[in-house]
Amino acid sequence: MAISFGVDYYPEHWPRERWETDAKLMQEMGVQVVRMAEFSWSRLEPREGEFQFGWLDDAIALLARYGISTILGTPTAAPPAWIIARNPEIQPVDSQGRVRHFGGRHHDCQSNPAYRAHIKRYVTAFAEHFGKNPNVIGWQVDNELGNSHEDLCFCEECEKRFRLWLQERYGSIEELNRHWGTVFWSQGYNSFDEVFAPRMTASGHNPSQMLDWKRFCSDLVLDFHNFQAEILRKAAPGKFITHNMMGFSDKISYFDLADHLDFSSHDQYPGGHFQEDPNAPRAARLAAPLDFIRGTKHRPFWIMEQQSSITGWGDMGRAPRPGQLALWAAQSIAHGADAVVFFRWRTCTVGTEQYWHGVLPHSGVPGRCSRELSACMHRAAPLMARHRGGLPKPKVAIVFSYEQEYAFQIQPHHPELTYLGHVMTYYRALFERNIPVEFVREGEDLSGYEWVVAPLQYLMTPQKEAQFRAYVENGGNLVLTMRTGVKHEDNLCMDNQPLPGALHDVLGLTVPEYDCLRETDVQVDWGGARYRGLKWSDLVEPQGAKPLAVYASEFYAGTPAITVNEYGKGRAYYVATEMDAPLAARFVQEMVDSSALRPLLDTPQDVEVCYREAGGKAVYFVLNHTAQEQPVEIPAGWTPVEGFDGAPLPPYGVAVYEGPLPGEA
Ligand code: GAL
Ligand code: ZN
Repeated sequence: MAISFGVDYYPEHWPRERWETDAKLMQEMGVQVVRMAEFSWSRLEPREGEFQFGWLDDAIALLARYGISTILGTPTAAPPAWIIARNPEIQPVDSQGRVRHFGGRHHDCQSNPAYRAHIKRYVTAFAEHFGKNPNVIGWQVDNELGNSHEDLCFCEECEKRFRLWLQERYGSIEELNRHWGTVFWSQGYNSFDEVFAPRMTASGHNPSQMLDWKRFCSDLVLDFHNFQAEILRKAAPGKFITHNMMGFSDKISYFDLADHLDFSSHDQYPGGHFQEDPNAPRAARLAAPLDFIRGTKHRPFWIMEQQSSITGWGDMGRAPRPGQLALWAAQSIAHGADAVVFFRWRTCTVGTEQYWHGVLPHSGVPGRCSRELSACMHRAAPLMARHRGGLPKPKVAIVFSYEQEYAFQIQPHHPELTYLGHVMTYYRALFERNIPVEFVREGEDLSGYEWVVAPLQYLMTPQKEAQFRAYVENGGNLVLTMRTGVKHEDNLCMDNQPLPGALHDVLGLTVPEYDCLRETDVQVDWGGARYRGLKWSDLVEPQGAKPLAVYASEFYAGTPAITVNEYGKGRAYYVATEMDAPLAARFVQEMVDSSALRPLLDTPQDVEVCYREAGGKAVYFVLNHTAQEQPVEIPAGWTPVEGFDGAPLPPYGVAVYEGPLPGEA
């Protein structure tokens, strides 16, 4: 039977006598799967080679009697004290040379050979033992890879690996010197052994070295994952491997990771705080990571941890309002989750996460949250069976790039400019018009999209230039933005032609000058209406491009701020500043007016509409993220799906309709 709902379960936190009550309650609620054991190393191997798998066997068997399958995590995000006592060199070292000690989690260096040996021993035994169990359906390697490793690890092992990675990338030290521009500040190297990890310096860093370090760290985390995944696949070939990613977390490229997974998973905590742009309105901020994770494989994904009550460690978030938990779960499903696993089953009484609340409170007595979630599961499961596997087919793609993000972390230009914040300008404006978006990685085939928005294409390659050119030539609508074509992929500035480089004829312009908007912004005029450009102005000199909006203040008043150029069968837009929200909304209106692009529905702010394909039709979700009742005008061809609210939508209400696919009315 296909799985729709589950919970993250830690039976080792509770007396055995309670387990059966838990299993019974889970079954009544509609729980079909648990994830377990990703933090249980000290209970499963209390001393080297002394495996105590029995209690977990029992838990799996008991849950199976209640129709509940198991996903098991490898416990490498928290190596036990006996390992650290024996091999203290496993603990990671930060950029200032300080060791991150035992006592929390993620106190591990992912390069360390002693740690790899411990992992190999444990994961092999674990996989061989549980791989035979038919109730174990899949694996998760580690937990939220990249989490807590703020600047990753600067220990000698990591440095050694970095040198090997560089040797492989550049072949010779002369090549590295060239690609890193080491003539500056006397950084020339005679051999790879002289190259250091970029630890805290007296002053500044080499941007090319920093970019390679970030690439290396992403590759290291990927290698750490694959090292374990290979052991698991060999021991238990019939089971899936997934990973609980964290939306836009940046330490490892999730595109690369997803290539090694059977499907992607994501942890969704609307009340927590991850890396989203805090200025974006809430609903868009919650939706974006879901769309992003879907984009890692363009396939349905799982939520491996979905908020189930109040979040918190030392401080706490708000109590979810009545309806909000079910709304958030529905949002995950609406954006492509085929299964939702709630974190955690019961609020724990011990440890760091005593206040990260679960489905059940500390007392274990079901309360409001568990009643709401139970109702949510019973109501949504039949619907999920209908659209399982189905996805939306967005006409707009947003190109997302870890490399561009890294480059702007290294040199943000403006203290408040972030890559993700800039990307969110576009996402948010499209979201607010209920225009579905697909995130794509750099280099991916773009031909299926009517619009491609590629923000901050700062690091440029001839391949990317050729791809963008061909896309427009063949009739695509391309949106490029400020700081396009500034650098080579090794983070050295281009010098062979004026900005934006080779794409100047596609865009019909050059950018001879720019202005960093420190402590100010710039007025923008579009057809007589006033808007603001933020953080940055590229000063555009049109060479065929038509200005849509112009700057209306500063010494460059009258200079184009947004342009469009016809090229081949398509059009290329250039947005020379970071748009404020009203300007971005105006820009999306231009997208609608100038093409076949249409919103799914017009709704009040923070009432979201999205859809999934289901057997040639569409299932439309209308999600009210506000505390007020909201009117929504439902199209005549949409029929309500039983069990969900209708319009007007109650506070935090969820309405679901079946209707023709967008554009097939
Ligand atoms: C997630 C993590 C869980 C738990 C939860 C609450 O990031 O995967 O293990 O820590 O947050 O803090
Ligand atoms: Zn290290």
